[in-house]
Amino acid sequence: MKLPTRVQLVDVGPRDGLQNEKQPVSAEIKIGLVHRLQDAGLKEIEVTSFVSPKWVPQMADNAEVMHGIARKPGVLYSVLTPNMKGFEAAIAAPREEWPDEIVVFGAASEAFSQKNINCSIAESIERFAPVVEAAREKGIHVRGAMSCTVGCPYEGEIAPAKVGYLAQLMKGIGVQRVDVADTIGVGTPRKVQAAMEATLAHFDVDAISGHFHDTYGQALVNTLAALEMGVWNFQSSSAGLGGCPYAKGATGNVATEDVVYMLHGMGIETGIDLDRLIDAGVYISQALGREPNSRASKAIRTKRAG
Ligand code: HMG
Ligand code: MG
Repeated sequence: MKLPTRVQLVDVGPRDGLQNEKQPVSAEIKIGLVHRLQDAGLKEIEVTSFVSPKWVPQMADNAEVMHGIARKPGVLYSVLTPNMKGFEAAIAAPREEWPDEIVVFGAASEAFSQKNINCSIAESIERFAPVVEAAREKGIHVRGAMSCTVGCPYEGEIAPAKVGYLAQLMKGIGVQRVDVADTIGVGTPRKVQAAMEATLAHFDVDAISGHFHDTYGQALVNTLAALEMGVWNFQSSSAGLGGCPYAKGATGNVATEDVVYMLHGMGIETGIDLDRLIDAGVYISQALGREPNSRASKAIRTKRAG
């Protein structure tokens, strides 16, 4: 199949990347990261989440971060809202500080749904339905994240039928596009393609995003496997930040730098300036006191120094 000629990346670093960090990261640093990502050419940024601060303390400054970002025209800013309380908090600010898109997040695994959002898959859909309706009424886009679409830390391998079931439920409540997420990074290309296939029964390829964690080093091949199916929207974290607090042992998202390096090498446009993106990853890594977790970043910085 002909590969897409252009790919849009969603940098989820400020949210998925930082949510698992035990050390406090100031709102100022998070805002600084968002600014560097938009300046590097990212057109979609997942900024924060409006979840319980008892569950995810790192995201407690959500409103402050949304207030502090100087928005760039043409960039879509998204936030996670698991329930009406989160949605109401996300729109408590003046309209210009509202997110462009909210994300409801469910799982293809019952056990993960319980651990992550404290309810069953069916209950989660009941909670999401009014959130989706309220968001769409206000002209805010709605994305549905589907976790554990190939494997679950509690249930093991996940059958594609479970992914199809969740996708159907998401579609039924008015979710406009979905993420096929390999939350713990155990997927391999054929399994990821099967999860995508199950999703394609309910959503158009233009409404699907790939979200791959790199725990087993499979995220780039999984990206390629999804590209071969025509998927052109992918989520990644600058500097490979991240992990989910409810998926023990899972490492970060694939590094945005590595995905951009691969795509540009294949002649696929992203609109992203890799050098500036590398600098954004260095900025957040320095704030965290570590090296960027990206091979392309390391190689290019070594060459720069050379
Ligand atoms: P719950 O305890 O079932 O909810 O949590 P509750 O309605 O019974 O409320 C309990 C307390 O939380 C109450 O406060 C509520 O006010 C408060 P208390 O009376 O005890 O002081 N509360 C909230 N506070 C702020 N914002 C809210 C909110 N809702 C309730 N929105 C809930 C349910 C979903 C809130 C909870 O389980 C939670 O916050 N979970 C966090 C989930 C999370 O953020 N996980 C990480 C993101 S998902 C992910 O990383 C995967 C993804 O990247 C894709 C992938 O890789 O798979 C997206
Ligand atoms: Mg994730």
